[in-house]
Amino acid sequence: YGDSNQKIDYVFKVVLIGDSAVGKSQILARFARNEFSLDSKATIGVEFQTRTLVIEHKSVKAQIWDTAGQERYRAVTSAYYRGAVGAMLVYDITKRQSFDHIPRWLEELRSHADKNIVIILIGNKSDLENQRAILTEDAKEFAQKEGLFFLETSALESTNVESAFLTVLTEIF
Ligand code: GTP
Ligand code: MG
Repeated sequence: YGDSNQKIDYVFKVVLIGDSAVGKSQILARFARNEFSLDSKATIGVEFQTRTLVIEHKSVKAQIWDTAGQERYRAVTSAYYRGAVGAMLVYDITKRQSFDHIPRWLEELRSHADKNIVIILIGNKSDLENQRAILTEDAKEFAQKEGLFFLETSALESTNVESAFLTVLTEIF
């Protein structure tokens, strides 16, 4: 964790999108700082954090952008997507609506981002299995149909967060 002093071979911009409260900011906090907070505040505008990793013997600086899921707090869309080479499309496995909105997020992404952008669909809060509203199979099928990678994560339990970022970063690479 944290940026080392070694030289940077690549800088990759990755954007997080999805409805409010699905856990975008906590996924980022887990990845960038190995932190998690249960009383996370809604994001206003845009924030970003970086983490440098070594992938295939190259140092890759991942610059992860996070914005508000709530429309009224969102920043200028075109600026947010500009230069992004990866995207994480997040829903909450316990909230049907957050999954039903995924096609809209995908449409926004596809109309603003580079056509070669690497996209992963993420079903977050996998620790809340007893409140599950979206079957893994249904999400997997949707992802397959749309040509997206797919993983279920838990920012709380730190499950698959690292894998989700590595999937995107390795594919960009
Ligand atoms: P906006 O900034 O409004 O778009 O929301 P967000 O998607 O950034 O959500 P945020 O990360 O702020 O998380 C919303 C709530 O869900 C907070 O109470 C988090 O603690 C909680 N949360 C995030 N990830 C998880 C998870 O993996 N499991 C559980 N149980 N709760 C989570
Ligand atoms: Mg947020």
